[in-house]
Amino acid sequence: MDHFTYKNRTLHCDDVPVPALAEKYGTPLYVYSRKTLTHHLKQIQAAFKPVDPLVCYSIKTNGNLHIARLMVEGGAGCDVTSGGELFRALKAGCPGSKIVFAGAGKTDAEIRMAFENDVFLFNVESEGELDAIAAIARAMGRTANVALRVNPDLPPKTHAKTDTSVKGVKFGLDIDTVLEFAQKVVKNPHVKVIGLHMHLGSPILSVEPYRQGIVKGMVLIEKLRAQGHGINVWNMGGGFGIHYKKNEALPAAAFAEVIVPGIQESGCKLVLEPGRFIVGNAGLLVSRVIYTKDSGGKHFVIQDAAMNDLIRPTLYDSFHRIWPVASLPGFDAPEDFQVENAGTVKCDVVGPVCESGDFLAKDRYLPPLVRGDLLATFSAGAYGMAMASNYNGRPRAAEVMVDGGQHHLIRRRETFEDLIRPEIEC
Ligand code: LLP
Repeated sequence: MDHFTYKNRTLHCDDVPVPALAEKYGTPLYVYSRKTLTHHLKQIQAAFKPVDPLVCYSIKTNGNLHIARLMVEGGAGCDVTSGGELFRALKAGCPGSKIVFAGAGKTDAEIRMAFENDVFLFNVESEGELDAIAAIARAMGRTANVALRVNPDLPPKTHAKTDTSVKGVKFGLDIDTVLEFAQKVVKNPHVKVIGLHMHLGSPILSVEPYRQGIVKGMVLIEKLRAQGHGINVWNMGGGFGIHYKKNEALPAAAFAEVIVPGIQESGCKLVLEPGRFIVGNAGLLVSRVIYTKDSGGKHFVIQDAAMNDLIRPTLYDSFHRIWPVASLPGFDAPEDFQVENAGTVKCDVVGPVCESGDFLAKDRYLPPLVRGDLLATFSAGAYGMAMASNYNGRPRAAEVMVDGGQHHLIRRRETFEDLIRPEIEC
């Protein structure tokens, strides 16, 4: 469920017409719905309530402080993946005791920072990393709480670039050798292996990988306990999918149904690291058509959002629904956005960046568009702004939060001056 609806044929976020936002804040513009954000967090909290989980919002998905703070105020902790994300989580008011620190390449400085801020858990992915954490812990007179991130070697389930639990990816400790590794650290006084971590991939549209992960994890936890590790935390990562097309995603309750019994049986505290499920459908990208043109047998809609604003279509061939903000009579947004409806035109929706790979959509049937029309790219709240860049000298978009009839800027549009600010004056 989200709070983006067409009223009188004009797209609204809650009670606010999107054209009013585009007018006030300019385009390209990210628009977030506060109600949708909190609704999604609550859905996860409610579904997993029987095991009272620590839900750590995955900062990488959308780190805007206003969004992170909303999550923290809603009772979430944070999943961070770098010193920069740890900084953000702390700025958003998250206590270290609710922060889990993931990432395959934690530097010494980041590890020290994590100790200084008393993070709850290090998700460890290699022997070298564990050695580094142990050495720093010794030097700082500390003991690290560690979860071993295991790659459970499951069948492929999502795009190759975002599948993290198939053999041969850089993530996690190999499930075949993790016990030999764990044996070596049983007596290390500076690292306490208290947990198991798995992140299966993203976005996942079936419960099956979680079912398989639970089965493999359960066996592993028993063996780790037999080695003498006091395992009492099970971090199942993130990965819950969302609706990018129509109704392909599962409710949080469906995932809970397969995860909760396993957690109860294990006697562990459950940690979850959801990102996309919370913020994906809570955000859209609003852009304005600059030109249209026909070339090489194709119709191009050139609008002012580009791959630097939303790289997902370029990078993963991801599908995002796109529809005019003002939906003309006779042109209702179709159930299936790839089907031709009467009067629609097959278009490539592209941006101004100098790359053929700069597109938001290909071969999409849209009503005829003219210069100045506004477009909405839906389900853009996750990994949209978070992966935005300044490529082609493009200042990053503004972000606005809507709540009921209210709206306020949560990140201003970058200026040309911002583009050169970190460069040394010459
Ligand atoms: N935990 C870990 C260890 C992760 O690596 C990730 C995402 C998450 C949690 C959050 O996953 P989520 O709940 O959002 O699915 N840029 C790609 C997705 C990359 C995912 C990276 N890891 C995309 O736009 O699809």
